Order: sequence, then structure tokens, then C-alpha cells
Amino acid sequence: MHRIIIHGGKRLNGEINISGAKNSAVALIPGAILCDENVVIKNVPNISDVDSLEEMLLHLNAKIERKNNEVFISSSNIKNIPIKKDLAKKLRASYYFMGALLGKFKHVEMCFPGGCTIGERPIDIHLRGFRALGATVIENGDNFIIHADKLVGTKIDLSFASVGATINLLYAAVKAEGKTIITNAAKEPEIINVADYLNKMGAKIVGAGTSEIIIEGVNYLHSCEESVIPDRIETGTYEIIAAAIGDKIRINNINPYYMEALNNKLKEMNVNLSVDDNKIEVLNSTDYLKGCDVVTEVFPGFPTDLQQVLATLMAISSGKSSIKETIYENRFNNLIELEKMGAVIKIEGDLATITGVKELNGCEVNATDLRAGAGLIVAGLIAKGTTIINNADYILRGYDSIIEKLTNIGADIELQEV
Ligand code: EPZ
Repeated sequence: MHRIIIHGGKRLNGEINISGAKNSAVALIPGAILCDENVVIKNVPNISDVDSLEEMLLHLNAKIERKNNEVFISSSNIKNIPIKKDLAKKLRASYYFMGALLGKFKHVEMCFPGGCTIGERPIDIHLRGFRALGATVIENGDNFIIHADKLVGTKIDLSFASVGATINLLYAAVKAEGKTIITNAAKEPEIINVADYLNKMGAKIVGAGTSEIIIEGVNYLHSCEESVIPDRIETGTYEIIAAAIGDKIRINNINPYYMEALNNKLKEMNVNLSVDDNKIEVLNSTDYLKGCDVVTEVFPGFPTDLQQVLATLMAISSGKSSIKETIYENRFNNLIELEKMGAVIKIEGDLATITGVKELNGCEVNATDLRAGAGLIVAGLIAKGTTIINNADYILRGYDSIIEKLTNIGADIELQEV
């Protein structure tokens, strides 16, 4: 286990290079199973979720080589055996093995996935889509056996624009017989990254990034090379850090299209930011920050993954702010920790109200999930005194080299093994 120690109050200056998106990488890697040859995935972030997926692929006898930020995967000798529970429970994205193994072998046995405790996070939409394609799903407590004599394309309307279900159904449908139409599909950038990847293997997918995706099943998927898109949640995290305590911070390797919802809110808060086609510059804004109201939505709305990080900036912005969380039922645990540092917060169901204070005070806090941990790092950087963040392994799941990246711009931050 690890904890993070931050001596707060240091003004930050310099450049941050954004890594590949966790939520793309954790989908592309299991998706390699569908390829009948080999894949190379570039710009893969160095995060523990990727380590966990590598372990799962090795467990299935796939060949995987990682060099710097490139991953080579050959699944020609893959064995379709149940994924060990302790591996699958390490992350939510283990569920992509369901769609990939079903799409390739028409059979998969595995347990309910892991992931941050930010809600119940069922997979009913995934399973309903698998059944629509002709699979039977046997649920035995925490375990699932999903089997299809054949997968036949059909129309699937998602009850919620689920990111995971959209991607999993692309995997299950890509080699099905005939045409599949997914309506109310998720439009997150990660969906486009996955569809491009499959199309580079010879799949026939149109409409990714819109709410209607059409997949013509194919028999064979050949080798391809794909790059992971820039991480929009990592980008937003560093924008918020820069707004909180940066003098002049440049954030490189970004895609501005992904950042519009957050950037509109940051500008509303008087953050001095300039955006161009592959970088964002944030100038000293600390003394002018004012509160704002956020409602989380599916893409292109304000991303739920950034509300926990923006909450910390709201905590030191003048006036009142509010966050209405519409995606998850339990994503305010970070606010309890922020209150320990002096934040003034009121939580009423899915609405949190934050009244800005002059400063936060460092103390010992606990990361309850990945993005909560990121929000506490922002708090530690701006707080007076020292902050200890326990359960820091959550943060290492999704932020490539965060200690080094922050140290390079002047933060006094260290990772300790406990
Ligand atoms: C992905 O999770 C991301 N994780 C999450 O990021 C992100 O918060 C979420 O999309 C929304 O953008 C990965 O990509 C690995 P959903 P996912 O299916 O696919 C409900 C992070 O911090 N739902 O869009 O699980 C679900 O309970 C993580 O990087 C069902 O009810 O998200 C939730 O309330 C956290 N039934 C909502 O939909 C289902 O079958 C959003 O889920 C599936 C989902």
C-alpha cells in the first residue's frame, strides 16, 4: 500500500505532458483478443490498471510485450478459461473481457467486475445487449457464464448511454452474423478510439461518437496499430491544479474538443486559460476565483469523473458552488475528507453545495476512490501545512507518473510505501 505526503502552498510553474487515456487503454487492451493476428497499441499510460490487464491476458496465455508506452499483443494461442476472480476484481474494465471473449469464442466465464465504490454499478445493460445478440447468460451469484451458439446482429437500444456497455457490445457484435444497430450509444471520445481500432483491424463500424452506431459483422480481424487518445480526465485534473495554485502552467498533448465542458466552467470561475489545438496554458488565477454550478452529464456534458476534482477548486473559490451528480449514486465521499481540511460543504442527496473559504489546512485524509484521491491531491497542494493521503494506490491506478509530473512543476510531494 502507499500514501502520499504533500507540503502545501508551493506555487507551481512549468509544463505537464498528458499521457494516454486510462479509459481508452483499459478497453483497447482486452479488445486485442478479437484480433486474429497481432496488435500494437501506442501511447499506453504507465498505470496500475494496465498492469492488471496485462496479468489477465497472460493468464489467458496471450503474448504481451510492453516497451515504454507501447504494448504488443498476440492472442493467437489464447485459452478461453475463466479469469481469476482476484484479477477481475482489481478494476471495472475487466468486464471488457466479457465482450471480447464472447465476440471471439461465443463463450465466456467470469465474475462481476471490480472498480471504484462510487455506486452499485450493475452490468445489466451489457448483459441485455449480449442476450439481444443471441447469447444466454447464466448468473450464479457473482459469476457469469455467457454462451451463444451463434451471435446474430440485431437492434439494441441502451436504456442509458453506458460507456462500458457501448464498448462491450461493439466487441460482441463485431464478428456477429449480419448488422447490429446500437441506439442511445455513449458518445465519449473513448468510443471513437475503440471503433477506429477495430476498423483498422478490418471491422465495419460507422457512427461511433454519435448516439447510433452500426456494425456489419466480419469473419476476420487482421493486425493493426492504434494509439490511445489523450486522457481528458488527466488533462482536466492538471487544469484544475494550475487554476488552484499555478503561476504559469502549460499542459501539452491535449485534445481541446474533449475539454469544452470543463473549460467553460473554469472560464466562468475566472480562470485565466488559453486553449489551442494541442495545448492549454493556465495563468495565475488564484485570487480571482469565483464559484460555479455544475451538473454532471454524459459526453459532451460535464464529466462525472472531474466533479470530484473541481470540488476542491470550488472549496477555495469565493461564494457558493454546487455539484449535481446525475451519473452515480455515491460519488461525494471525497467531500467528507475535504471537510476535515476546512472546506464548508452541505450534501443533500445528489446535490452538494460548497461555500468557498480562504484556505484549507493540511491533515491526514483518505482517498476513497481514484478521482476522490485526485481531488485530495489538489487540496494538499493548496493547503497550509502537510497533508497525508492514505490509500494512494487508488490514484496510481489512473494517473501516469503523477508524483514526477507534479514534482517537475515545483510541488513538494512524495509517495511512501506503508
Ligand atoms: C466508465 O465507467 C469509466 N470507467 C468511468 O470512469 C466513468 O465515470 C464512466 O464511464 C462514465 O463516464 C472506465 O471506462 C473503465 P457507465 P462505466 O457504464 O463504463 C450505470 C474513472 O474514474 N450502469 O457509463 O462503468 C452505472 O451504474 C471511472 O476513470 C447501469 O446501471 O460507466 C452508472 O451509474 C469511474 N447498468 C452509470 O450507468 C449498466 O449495465 C454510468 O455507467 C452499466 C452502467
